Amino acid sequence: MRKKIVAGNWKMNKTPKEAVALAEMLKPKVATDNSQVIFCVPYVDLIPVAEVLKGTNILLGAENLHFEDKGAYTGEISAPMLKEIGVKCVVIGHSERREYFAETDETVNKKVVKALEYGLLPIMCCGESLAEREDGITIEKIRIQIKKGMKGLSKDDAKKVVVAYEPIWAIGTGRVATTEQAQEVCHAIRVVLGELFGEDTAQEISILYGGSVSAANAAELFKMEDIDGGLVGGASLKEDFEVIAKA
Ligand code: PGA
Repeated sequence: MRKKIVAGNWKMNKTPKEAVALAEMLKPKVATDNSQVIFCVPYVDLIPVAEVLKGTNILLGAENLHFEDKGAYTGEISAPMLKEIGVKCVVIGHSERREYFAETDETVNKKVVKALEYGLLPIMCCGESLAEREDGITIEKIRIQIKKGMKGLSKDDAKKVVVAYEPIWAIGTGRVATTEQAQEVCHAIRVVLGELFGEDTAQEISILYGGSVSAANAAELFKMEDIDGGLVGGASLKEDFEVIAKA
């Protein structure tokens, strides 16, 4: 059985005080034994939110990390820093980071490797733009992102990666992929994972869908065979996240 995962991606929202209030509000609502709930929060919110989550089975996640352990990288945060404060998980290669912060499949790969080295669960994002979908190259694009992002991983390491499929045109737009579109690409991801790491390994890797997941559409999406949960932006900042986590 693959793990069912619902991860909230808070993005650049919530000051530390606001983050504590949101985590306190959501904590009792999203407590579930059927799935793994994760809060991925801004760096400055990590320490106070870690306090709030103590004693729960909700995991704390960061939204990025650097691929070196330390050094002259002004403004960056490393895996050992995250590890020390109790972070368990990290979003890597979100399309906003690729678009605005020049992340590439190569840096994504280095970050995945670094996260695994420190025992952090990487949620590696992939997804096509609207133009790529319209040009009919969605699957090619995704296959390249998976192959490059997971380059050099052993089967054992590959099993420790969570893949998030997030069509860029669906992020923050309210325009969710249809369940068929989402399933088609998540299935294609499992196929390429099988080619890379073997069918058994591919069956063990959780694949999430992200992009305008809401209380209204989560259950339908998560029912699909190759969709093992969601990476949720806007709706993770409100009570709706309860419905999504329960779905
Ligand atoms: P959204 O964001 O749910 O607000 O569309 C998803 C994401 O970017 O992870």
